[in-house]
Amino acid sequence: MAKRNEQVAEPETRALDAAATGEDVRFERSLRPKTLDDYIGQTKHKDNLRVFVEASRRRGEPLDHLLLSGPPGLGKTTLAQILAAEMGVELHMTNGPVVEHKGALAGLLTKLGKNDILFIDEIHRLNPVVEESLYPAMEDFRIDVMTGDGAFASSIQIPVQPFTLIGATTRTGLLTAPLHSRFGQLIRLDFYPVEDLAKIVERSAKLLGVEVAKSAALAIAARSRGTPRIANRLLRRVRDFAEVIGSGKIDDAIVIKSSERLDIDSAGFDEMDRRLLRVIIVDYDGGPVGVETLAAALGEPRDTIEDVYEPYLLQQGYLGRTTRGRVATRKAYEHLGVAFAGTAAAKQEELFDE
Ligand SMILES: Nc1ncnc2c1ncn2[C@@H]1O[C@H](COP(=O)(O)OP(=O)(O)O)[C@@H](O)[C@H]1O
Ligand SMILES: [Mg+2]
Repeated sequence: MAKRNEQVAEPETRALDAAATGEDVRFERSLRPKTLDDYIGQTKHKDNLRVFVEASRRRGEPLDHLLLSGPPGLGKTTLAQILAAEMGVELHMTNGPVVEHKGALAGLLTKLGKNDILFIDEIHRLNPVVEESLYPAMEDFRIDVMTGDGAFASSIQIPVQPFTLIGATTRTGLLTAPLHSRFGQLIRLDFYPVEDLAKIVERSAKLLGVEVAKSAALAIAARSRGTPRIANRLLRRVRDFAEVIGSGKIDDAIVIKSSERLDIDSAGFDEMDRRLLRVIIVDYDGGPVGVETLAAALGEPRDTIEDVYEPYLLQQGYLGRTTRGRVATRKAYEHLGVAFAGTAAAKQEELFDE
């Protein structure tokens, strides 16, 4: 099945954008780990998954339905591909908004072989009617089809093979309760620690055939916003600089020089992250600012702010979320070199007391 969501080639604009670009798709195919052992970090989840795969294989049953959540670029699609490979089953990939009606879903479900995996990316964007017809498929491996109409309407049930649904979403909060409750396993991927990202950089460098010093791998990792996709992309950019203006090898100096050229600062923020913090601090006196207001000020869709920029800034403590909107923390003021005192400090005490 076509990976519809990732086929759209877009020009690469931001080195730090976690969304996949056309260039990423090409590289990701070669850099994507194929087994759980190759999948770096997320140890607790991997250890559990190994047990579930082994148990399901022994019983000849499909894996429990699995919901993968987390910001873009953390390895949700990769994990689905690995699980299919480890189970020795076929992976069928689609995307929430692409499954437009019940018939399209029925078409997908009836094509599944025994224990196959159906991967629905952006599952929170499924049409509600389609979503509802997914419930009996998940629970009883059947689909209900209505035939006839009016007084002659009746429902027939079509069995489907036992299968595993893997849903991916950037935010679990957007899933309806009935869908959420039908998943037997929930895995929330978190931003990766720098050490894990450095291992990913070293692994990718080996696959790309470029030499990278350990400290340089760490320097790239530290500027990757906790995100493997960004780490791989930055590695490729740095490799370009190393080949054209450096020695070909990747050392600390070339990482620093490349980052300057790409406008990535020491915290791994790019111009967009800094603009976001600046809008809150300068235009709104530290906040609170509603996300709609922020989106308008930055000229970015609200979803992009919430899915792509905010999570890392929140996790790293540069942003705070209050009932009245986003606020910039002391750390954000310090990062931008703006004095954090007076009204900003007083306001925060009051806001976080609520
Ligand atoms: N745990 C990991 N170990 C190694 N590489 C990873 C890992 N997670 C993600 N990657 C790399 O990051 C890229 C993006 O991951 P992907 O699965 O497409 O993210 P998502 O589906 O969550 O947006 C992959 O192509 C892969 O090369
Ligand atoms: Mg994906």
